Formats: sequence, structure tokens, C-alpha cells
Amino acid sequence: MVNRVAPAPSVPAAPGAVFDWLDETAEQRAAAGLTRTLRSRPADDPVLDLAGNDYLGLTRHPAVTRAAADAALRWGGGATGSRLVTGTTALHTELEEELAAFCGAEAALVFSSGYTANLAALTALTDPDTLIVSDAYNHASLIDGCRLARADVHRAPHSDPRAVADILAGRARRRALVVTDSVFSVDGNAAPLAELATVTRRFGAALLVDDAHGLGVLGPGGAGAPAAAGLAGAPDLVTTVTLSKSLGSQGGAVLGPRRVVRHLVETARTFIFDTGLAPAATGAALGALRLLRAEPHRADRAREVARTLAARLTAAGLHASTPDAAVVSVRAPGPEAAVAWAADCRRAGLAVGCFRPPSVPDGVSRLRLTARGDLTDTQIADAVRIIAATAPEGAETAG
Ligand SMILES: Cc1ncc(COP(=O)(O)O)c(C=O)c1O
Repeated sequence: MVNRVAPAPSVPAAPGAVFDWLDETAEQRAAAGLTRTLRSRPADDPVLDLAGNDYLGLTRHPAVTRAAADAALRWGGGATGSRLVTGTTALHTELEEELAAFCGAEAALVFSSGYTANLAALTALTDPDTLIVSDAYNHASLIDGCRLARADVHRAPHSDPRAVADILAGRARRRALVVTDSVFSVDGNAAPLAELATVTRRFGAALLVDDAHGLGVLGPGGAGAPAAAGLAGAPDLVTTVTLSKSLGSQGGAVLGPRRVVRHLVETARTFIFDTGLAPAATGAALGALRLLRAEPHRADRAREVARTLAARLTAAGLHASTPDAAVVSVRAPGPEAAVAWAADCRRAGLAVGCFRPPSVPDGVSRLRLTARGDLTDTQIADAVRIIAATAPEGAETAG
């Protein structure tokens, strides 16, 4: 039976009318202050960039760009095929081996993005007899992975191991997977990984940690949040990472027990039906990883910059988050005020991120700052001065 909301029009409208409803929804977003627009960034943009995710400032480091260029010259512009066909080069294998060793995992598998890595882990490691317990503030790619998984998905209150335990205790499914960001991208707060690991182990569940914001920033030398929590190499832990933040490149990876990686190679649709990561990106990530291994202080510096930024913004009377990694957010009085504030910062020479609904799970709009480990003390002072000077009315009490 066809379930129609409205009868089909008897006279066909102009062909383009099929998309008229998109204009209506765009108007609704505009009325709510939620319009999103693209901005082309010039290569020599003079603004100070605290809007990107280049946590260690490596994306333009000569060691990284040289590694990218060398890889492209040697292997070509693209990977030429999916990983199982022609898309695995010696570089992919080197990156997987070195990334696994760096993070203390048994094995790693590189994907074309962190997004596809998350979709792979959530869909391939679950089945209809699996309960997924997902933190309410998880990243959109984890949420989408839960939607794609044919499992029973339960949303848990944010950062609440006791609530996770209650959900696991009442489960009817044979298997369970608890999934969380290691560092939440809005406020930069860390998940209680050690407590979550204790709970998951007690109930025979696996733990999936998205360490997109932890790799390169947390743990010894930037080995990541699981290493910081003493969980690296745990047999019931799977970690996903992106290569596009601290490693200054593009791509993603899943790390975990060797049998998990083997299972993903043979079953994960976003691995099998996707072209392998481009050689330049693979080479850049490998170059960044080697640099970080040689210069482990870079991770400490990013955390130090975050703490300094947050403390100074708070001292200026603003509502800054308490950063556990390299993300600091500042609450704004509303979505329009947040957009205007970010635009004022840009006019003053500072690029900051702007988070508004639906990207903020609690509905509070914010400026989002990346505490890059390569910032100088003068740049930190400039950033604080500009943000404080452009703060809208109500910013002091926002949220
Ligand atoms: C927490 C988290 N997970 C996953 C991703 C997706 O990573 P990628 O941009 O490599 O697809 C992001 C990034 O933007 C992220 O913030």
C-alpha cells in the first residue's frame, strides 16, 4: 500500500519545481540564524588560524609537505583502486605498521577518512544481536555509524559510566559495544575512558573509542587517549583516528587486535568499496607521525596552549571551557551572535570556528578554538585580545 501524505498533483509543475521545498527549508534555517556558507581560503591567508584542526601545526611543516610530494611523485596522484584490488601501496603498509606501534595497538587499518573508519568499525563489529551504547555527545560520524549498523542502539547520557553500566546490565542482546569520543569536539572535555573500560569489561562488552581529538595531543608523546588511560593494546578495545587533525594530512584508521583488523579487511563496506587513501595523504601522515615520534614535546605544547588560552579568556570574563586536550570553546549568547562574533574576529585577523545547533548537542552556540601547538606566546596574546574585544553583549553570562 502506498502511504501518501498529499495527493499527487494532476498537472505536472515545471520540472525544477521538484526542488522548491529546498528553498523553503533554507528560509527556515536562515530565520533561525543557521545558514551555512562556504568560504574559499587563499593559500597565503594572513589571518591567524584557530579554526582548523591542525593541532600541532604540521600540515605545512616541510617534513610533511615533502613527504606528501615525494609520495605523489613516486606513487601517483591517486591510489588507483580499492585497498583490496590495487589501492594498497608499500606506504599504506608502512603507515599501518608505524601507527599501530605508535599507539600501542596490535594492528591498524588505514581508511580514506576518519568518517569511513567510524562507519566501518560500527557496522562490521556489530550485528542484530548487538547492543550499541553510544554517548549522547558523540561525533556525527559515530551517530551515522550507529544508524547504519543493524544493531540495537541505545543513547547514553554524556560521560556517565554508571548509566552505561545500567544499560549494559539490562541488555537482552548477546554482544555489546560501548562507543565514545575520547575528547568531545565541542568543549574539548575528555571521556572517562578508564572507568568506561572497567564497566565494559565487567559486562563483557567491547569499547570503541574515537580518538580523533586525542591522537597527537594526549598520552605519552601524543600516543593518544587510550595510551593516556593505560588502555593501549587492550584485547577488548578498538580505536578509530583521523589523520586529518594532529597528523596534518587526510584519511583515517581503525586500530585494535589483529583479528579485528582482519575482520574489517574482509567485511567492512567502507573499506572494500572505497578507493584507497591517496599516496600524498598517506605519505604526509607518515611524515607527520615520524616527526612526532622524533619531537614528542609537540603534544605537551598543544595542551599547554589550550590551558593558557582558556585561563586568559576566563580571566577576560568569558565563558571558556576547561580543556583536556587542544580544543577550547567559548560560549556565545545565541547562534546569530556566535556567527557575528566569529566574523568580527576574522575582520580583526583571527579565524575561529563557530558551533551552532545542530552541531552542538546541548543547543548552546560557541566559538571553537584550536590551541595549535605551534602558536607563539604573542599569537596567543593576540587571539585572546581579539576575542575579548569583539565579544558580544551577553557573552559573559552565555550558556
Ligand atoms: C570526533 C571525530 N570523529 C571523526 C571525524 C571524521 O574524521 P575525517 O574528517 O577524517 O573524516 C571527525 C572530524 O572531523 C571528528 O571530529
